[in-house]
Amino acid sequence: MRKRLIVANWKMYIETPERAKRFITALKRKLARISGVEVWVAPPFTILPTLPKGSYKVGAQHVSAHTDGAHTGEVSASMLKSAGASFCIVGHSERRAMGEGDALVHEELLSALKAGLVAVLCVGEEERRDDGWHFAHIEAQLRTALVGVHPFAHKIIIAYEPLWAIGKDATQAMQPQMLEEMVIFIKKTLSQLIGREAGLKVPILYGGSVEGSNCAPLLHTGVSGLLVGHASADIDSFSDILTACKK
Ligand code: PGA
Repeated sequence: MRKRLIVANWKMYIETPERAKRFITALKRKLARISGVEVWVAPPFTILPTLPKGSYKVGAQHVSAHTDGAHTGEVSASMLKSAGASFCIVGHSERRAMGEGDALVHEELLSALKAGLVAVLCVGEEERRDDGWHFAHIEAQLRTALVGVHPFAHKIIIAYEPLWAIGKDATQAMQPQMLEEMVIFIKKTLSQLIGREAGLKVPILYGGSVEGSNCAPLLHTGVSGLLVGHASADIDSFSDILTACKK
């Protein structure tokens, strides 16, 4: 039985190592009592190396496309690894909104994979249109990002996060039926881009206003887990999600 993967994207919600440590202490207690769930935590860069070890993985929210040199403010994949990261989120919509285009997201993805990190590649449409534009948009994001990644296919996770459903409450998250349809579409697209065998093995996560009250139906749509934003920064709401997701 495969565990469900729940990735906590802390964004800038948890700001100090002290608060992060308190969260992790409570998280460890929770994880000791539930089964069938795997938790990965993506804190801000400054907190990443301070997190205590445990039965969860630590990763970054962003990775530079560059490996070294004169790139002020950037953090490379190998620097993340040496700080304790085993995965990183790539192409989150909040980074894309700051100007990261598909081509740069592709470079970031490759630099993460080449350094041995697992990459959680985010894709998502800004809006839904009657003519099915959102499908073409997701396909284009995947097509550009996944050029040349065949050797690393087993290190890729896709996080589908429709932008219109991010940062709201559970009532405004995507409806499970719509998600099911998109998961089938992403699987089909991955099969075309990286081959059927590899494509069908790539885990797909859903993200966007996931809370304890809506995660169970969202998990019955063919996804392997969830990428959680605001509800991952508060241990009570995150615990509710883990309880609802356990097998
Ligand atoms: P949210 O964020 O859960 O607060 O909607 C999800 C994300 O942006 O990854």
